[in-house]
Amino acid sequence: MDVTATIERGAATAPVSPPTGEDKSRVKRTGGFLTSSNGKKAIMAVTGAVMVLFLVGHMIGNLKIFAGRDSFNEYAHALRTLLEPLAPYRSLLTLVEIVLVVSVVLHMWAAISLSRRAAAARPVKYAAKKKSRAKGYATHIMRFGGITIALFLVWHLLDLTFGVVNPEGFASTPADRMIAGFDPSRWYVTLLYIVAVVMVGLHLRHGIWSAFQTLGVANRNRNKALNGIAALVAAVLVIGFLAPPLAITFGVIQ
Ligand code: HEM
Repeated sequence: MDVTATIERGAATAPVSPPTGEDKSRVKRTGGFLTSSNGKKAIMAVTGAVMVLFLVGHMIGNLKIFAGRDSFNEYAHALRTLLEPLAPYRSLLTLVEIVLVVSVVLHMWAAISLSRRAAAARPVKYAAKKKSRAKGYATHIMRFGGITIALFLVWHLLDLTFGVVNPEGFASTPADRMIAGFDPSRWYVTLLYIVAVVMVGLHLRHGIWSAFQTLGVANRNRNKALNGIAALVAAVLVIGFLAPPLAITFGVIQ
């Protein structure tokens, strides 16, 4: 490039002609809010909140096993008949399942596309190794935690919903499946659930905190309290979810 070139007199002040139709068509459309980084983070926050609500309800329902097999079976039956006779059998549960599948798919799509965008924005690794340790931990927990939870869910549904990997099989009551599934002889299944639920807890703790930031709730004065709320919700869910499997494996529930 000729850096000594002189600018023609008047060139800098020459009127800029308005873009022609052809030029306009070359302008790359960038998509709407939902496909922007902020939009994807909002999708993650909202779908995450939907899943947390499901988990709270699911955990409370599971705790009914402490009230006995009949109580738990009544609750499982109620889940399927709640809107009858206004709506067909299993309407509410089917609706919950559809909302959950849509939430999981959108949550994963947004997560993958945000991490791809971050990688594309930084194709060359940082030369300095001194990367924030907290950030590295969070990325690992969210990424591998998310994958572990997805794999756990496949096992979980085959075990307690479809009975395929459960000693009682499908032709049994939900309480029988649950109690047989965590029988002391199957301590390794309980161990698998412990690992998965702790992963869920770590994932939630960071996820809830991130959602507060995305939704604009966080600020310097509230950060400590919001961090505490995220940790509390995660801890309550971990303890509530692990209580039934542990009680069954240790013979408290038979
Ligand atoms: C660790 C303790 C857990 C126990 C004892 C447990 C128990 C159960 C049981 C008994 C069912 C079948 C319900 C029925 O057929 O009426 C079920 C379904 C399900 N569980 Fe869990 N669960 C646990 C943790 C989790 C976790 C951590 C998640 C999510 C990350 C989860 C997600 C689901 C889903 C998506 C279903 C299917 C709901 C449906 O039928 O539409 N569960 N669980």
